[in-house]
Amino acid sequence: MTQWTSSVGAPQLARLLGSQHARDTVTSLGARRAPAYRSLADGIRLLVLEGRVPVAARLPAERELAAALAVSRTTVAAAYEALRGEGFLESRRGSGSWTAVPAGSPLPSRGLDPLPPEAAASVIDLGCAALTAPEPWLSRAFQGALEELPPYAHTHGDYPAGLPVLRQAIADRYTARGIPTMPEQIMVTTGAMGAVAAICRMMAGRGERVAVESPSYANVLQLMREAGARLVPVAMADGLAGWDLPAWRQVLRDAAPRMAYVIADFHNPTGALAPEEQRRELVEAARAAGTLLVADETMSDLLLDPDVDMPRPVCAFDPAGSAVITVGSASKSFWAGLRIGWVRAAPDVIRGLIAARAYADLATPVFDQLAVTWLLTTDGWDESIAIRRATTRANRDALLASLGRHLPDWEFTVPHGGLTLWVRTGGLSGSRIAEAGERLGVRVPSGPRFGVDGAFEGYVRLPFTVGEAVAEEAAARLAEAARLVASGATAALETPRTYVA
Ligand SMILES: Cc1ncc(COP(=O)(O)O)c(C=O)c1O
Repeated sequence: MTQWTSSVGAPQLARLLGSQHARDTVTSLGARRAPAYRSLADGIRLLVLEGRVPVAARLPAERELAAALAVSRTTVAAAYEALRGEGFLESRRGSGSWTAVPAGSPLPSRGLDPLPPEAAASVIDLGCAALTAPEPWLSRAFQGALEELPPYAHTHGDYPAGLPVLRQAIADRYTARGIPTMPEQIMVTTGAMGAVAAICRMMAGRGERVAVESPSYANVLQLMREAGARLVPVAMADGLAGWDLPAWRQVLRDAAPRMAYVIADFHNPTGALAPEEQRRELVEAARAAGTLLVADETMSDLLLDPDVDMPRPVCAFDPAGSAVITVGSASKSFWAGLRIGWVRAAPDVIRGLIAARAYADLATPVFDQLAVTWLLTTDGWDESIAIRRATTRANRDALLASLGRHLPDWEFTVPHGGLTLWVRTGGLSGSRIAEAGERLGVRVPSGPRFGVDGAFEGYVRLPFTVGEAVAEEAAARLAEAARLVASGATAALETPRTYVA
C-alpha cells in the first residue's frame, strides 16, 4: 500500500485560521496584542490541539502561506520556527514541515475504562455514557421473553444472523422510518461494538485506511487501532455544525480509505447532529470514492429537545445498503446490560459479516434477543425511549447548572440529544484534570482518548447519566481538580499544565 500523508493547503489553513482566530485566540490570549508571528504560531498550535489540523499533516511552504494570509514571509518563517521550538512542528530540509505534538504529550492508547458498577459507592463514575434500566420495562421484557422461550429450547440455540423474529422486528422498524428493509438485510450482534468488530474484521484489517471523525468514540478508535487499521482523522465542523464536508471530500479523494466510520446522530463525544443535506453529500462522496460508509446510530433515539426535527437516517440515501452499513443498538435506547446491537446492510454484506463474526462470538444470547423482540413488538420500546429521554434531559440540565455554578470558565455547546457533553477545560490539561479527579473521587475521560493522534488535550467528556445531587458533587470535585491542576500541585514533569497560552 502506498504511503499517504495528509496535507493542508495554504487556502485551507488560512480558512481554518480565520475561524480559529475569531473563536479562540482573541478570547484566550488576553487584551495585549501579540506580535504577528506569535498569533500565527498560536493559531496553528490551537488547530493541532483541537484536532482541526491532524498531527503529521504537511503544512504549506512559507511563501504560499504568506501569500494566502497576506503577511510577510518572515512572519511565517518566525511562526514556524516558534512552533518547532515548542514541539508542534517538525521540518526536514528540502522536504517540508509537518505538524507534531510535543514529546511526552499523552497519546491515545486506550479506549474508555469505566468502573465496574460495584465501585459506584466511592467514586462518581462519569466515564460511562450509559443509563440504568428503564424499569418496569426491563422486567416486563424478560417476562415476555420467558413466555416465548420454550420452542427455542428444542433448537441448538446458535443463530449467527440473529433470531428470525428479531431480524424481522428490526427490519420493520426501519421500514416504519421510511426505509424499506427486509430481514435479510439485518444481522443481530452482541452490542454495537460487536457489529463494529465484525465490520472491522471484514474490512479494516492491518494497514487498511479508515477515515474517522476527529474526535470520535474512543472504544471504536481503539478497536480499529488494535485491528491494525490506519486511522485518518477528519475534523468535525465547529460547534454542533456536524461534518466539515470539504475536509471529508479531500480525505475521501486523496486517501481513498477502504472504510469511513461516522456517528451522524448525537455524535459521541460532541453531541452534533449532522444535517440531512450533509448526510446526502457524504454518502455521495463516499460512493464516488469507493469507500464503505459505516453509520453508527447507537444514539439516534436520544433526541432531547422536542422542537428539533430529526434528519433522515444516513441509510435513507443508500436504502439497498451496499454503500452504507448502519450499526444500531439497544444500549442507549433501552439498556446496555442486554448487549444487543445490529447491522443493516445489503444481504451479501450481511453474509460476509456472519462469516466474519463466526470466530469471535458465534452468535448473540437467545434470551436477550427475545427480550428486545418483545420490546419492539409491543409498546415497550417507545415507552422506554420516552422514559430515557425524560431522564437524560433532566440529567443534562442538572449537569449544565452544576457546571455553571462550579466551573463557569469551562466551555461547551449544549447538544440537542445524546448522552455526552464535550467540554473545554478552561485552558487546563484534560489529562491532568482526569488524573486529579481520580484522586478526588470522580472519574472522567480526558479529551485525547477521543482523538487519533494526541489532539484534544484541552477537553474532557462528561455524560448525562447522573441526577442533580450527584452532578453537583461531581462538579464540585472537578472544580477542586481544576484548582489543583492550575496551581501545579499535581505537576508531573512530562505533561504541560496548561495548553492554552
Ligand atoms: C457511538 C457509539 N457506538 C457504540 C457504542 C457501544 O454500544 P454497545 O453498548 O451497543 O456496544 C457507544 C456507547 O457509548 C456509542 O456511543
